[in-house]
Amino acid sequence: MKTTIKNIYRDPDQHLEKTLHLYGWVRNNRAQKEFGFINFHDGTFFEPIQVVYEEQALSNFKDVQKIRVGCAIEINGELVLTPKAKQPFEIKATHIKVLGDSAEDYPIQPKRHSREFLREVAHLRTRTNLFHAVFRLRSVAAHAIHDFFQTQGYVYIHAPIITGNDGEGAGQMFTVTTLPLENIPLDDQRSVDYKQDFFGRKTNLTVTGQLEAEAFALSFRNVYTFGPTFRAENSNTQRHASEFWMIEPEMAFCDLEQNMDIAEAMVKHIIQYVVKALPEEMAFFDKYVEPGLINKLDQVMKESFARITYQEAIEILLAAPTKFENTPKHGGDIATEHERYLTEAHFKRPVFVKDWPKDIKAFYMRMNDDQQTVAAMDLLVPGSGELIGGSQREERLDQLKRRMKEMNIPEKDFWWYMELRKYGGCVHSGFGLGFERMIMYLTGVENIRDVIPFPRTPKNCEF
Ligand code: 4AD
Ligand code: MG
Repeated sequence: MKTTIKNIYRDPDQHLEKTLHLYGWVRNNRAQKEFGFINFHDGTFFEPIQVVYEEQALSNFKDVQKIRVGCAIEINGELVLTPKAKQPFEIKATHIKVLGDSAEDYPIQPKRHSREFLREVAHLRTRTNLFHAVFRLRSVAAHAIHDFFQTQGYVYIHAPIITGNDGEGAGQMFTVTTLPLENIPLDDQRSVDYKQDFFGRKTNLTVTGQLEAEAFALSFRNVYTFGPTFRAENSNTQRHASEFWMIEPEMAFCDLEQNMDIAEAMVKHIIQYVVKALPEEMAFFDKYVEPGLINKLDQVMKESFARITYQEAIEILLAAPTKFENTPKHGGDIATEHERYLTEAHFKRPVFVKDWPKDIKAFYMRMNDDQQTVAAMDLLVPGSGELIGGSQREERLDQLKRRMKEMNIPEKDFWWYMELRKYGGCVHSGFGLGFERMIMYLTGVENIRDVIPFPRTPKNCEF
C-alpha cells in the first residue's frame, strides 16, 4: 500500500498488518552490527518516522548500513506499534532501495546548524525541522487569508507587478528597463530618454497593489490583493526585505474604524486557523523558537486590540519610565523601540495607532478635519512591530489634488487614480498586511530572512 508519513500519523490503525510503500529522504542512519535505524522523512508531515532494518530481513543489509544522510530512498515495511518507546510506532523494513545518493559533504547533518549558515544553503535548509515548519506554516497562513476573504465574498485581484507609478510616493522603486545600461539614450534635456525604453515610459516594480485595488473596490465593493511587492529601501534590519508579499484588502463604503475592525478580525482568523491546522509545528515553535508562543496567541484571540491616536501614543511614550535612544516627539515617527514599549511594556497586546501627522504619511490618506492629521492606522504587535499599515482614502478630488501638489506627486502618473474620484467616488478604506511579518509573529522567528524561501535584501540576491 502506497502511503505517506502524514497518513500514518493521522490514522495508524488503518496501516497495521499491511506492507507499506514509502518514498522519502534519510535524515539520519544509525547502523549497528546486525540492525540499524533510519530517521526517515517524506515531506508530508513535520515528524519523521523511525525505520528499523535487520540483517536477516534485507538482502542488501551491508549497503543499507552505508546509506548516507540526505539520500532519497524507497522503503517497504510493516508498521509496528511501540507503546514503550518515545515514538508511538516505527516501520520494520523488508526492502530499502537508494533512489538518489547523497554525497559525503552534504551540509545538513543531524546536528544544530546556525540560522546564518542555513541561509547560505537556502536550497537545502527546508530539510531541517525549523524551516520545514516555517514554510508549511507559510503555505497554511496563505490559505487562511484567502479563506477569510473568500468566505465573505471579497474578490481576489491580481495587481500588476510592473507599473508606471510610485504608489507610496516614497521613491523606493526598482526600475524595470531594457535600455542598454552601458549606452543609455538621452533626450534633448540630457535626461534618460525613456521613450525609447520597452514600454515607452519609465516603469518600475510595484511597491503596492493598493491603487489598483481601489479601482476594483469602486466596482466590486470588497476586494483584496495578495502578491509580491518590491522596495528598493536600503534598510538592513531583521524586519525589512526588498521583495515581500502583501495582502491588501480594499473596501468601498468603509471608514477607518470599520477598516480596523476588519484588520483585527483577519489577524485573529489567521491565528485561529493556523494554530488549529498545525499542532505539531506550533508545538515545535513554542518549545524551540519562542517559549510561550501558543499562550501568547491564545491570549491575543481573547482580547480586543487596543486603539489609540498617534497623539496618545506620543504622550504615553513621553511619560514612560524607559530611556529611549530616540526621544519621542510630537510630529516625529514612532521608532522600533517605541513600538516595542507600546506593545510589549505598556499594552502587552496588539495596538492600533491612528490619526497620524500628515507629513509622515502617504499622499492618498484622507485628511482629517484638523487639516494636520490623516485617517491612517498602523497595527503594532509585540515582537514584529508594524504588522499592518492602512488608511481611509482621500475620496475628495480637490483635497487629493492639493495633497499631491504639496508632496510633489506628479498628476500625470495618477490620472486614472484621480478619475476614480470623479466617477462615483465614495468613502473607502483598506490596509496592507506584511505577510512575512505575520509569519514572524506566528512562529516567533525573529529574522525576516528566515521566513522567505529565498530572501532578497540589500546586497543579497543569491539563488
Ligand atoms: O505601511 P506600508 O508601506 O503600506 C502600504 O504599502 C499601503 N499601500 C497598504 C495599504 O493601505 N493597502 O506597508 C504595509 C505593510 C507594513 O505594515 C509591513 O507589515 C509590510 O507591509 N512591509 C514590509 N515587510 C517587509 N519588508 C519591507 N520592506 C516592508 N515594508 C512594508
Ligand atoms: Mg507603514
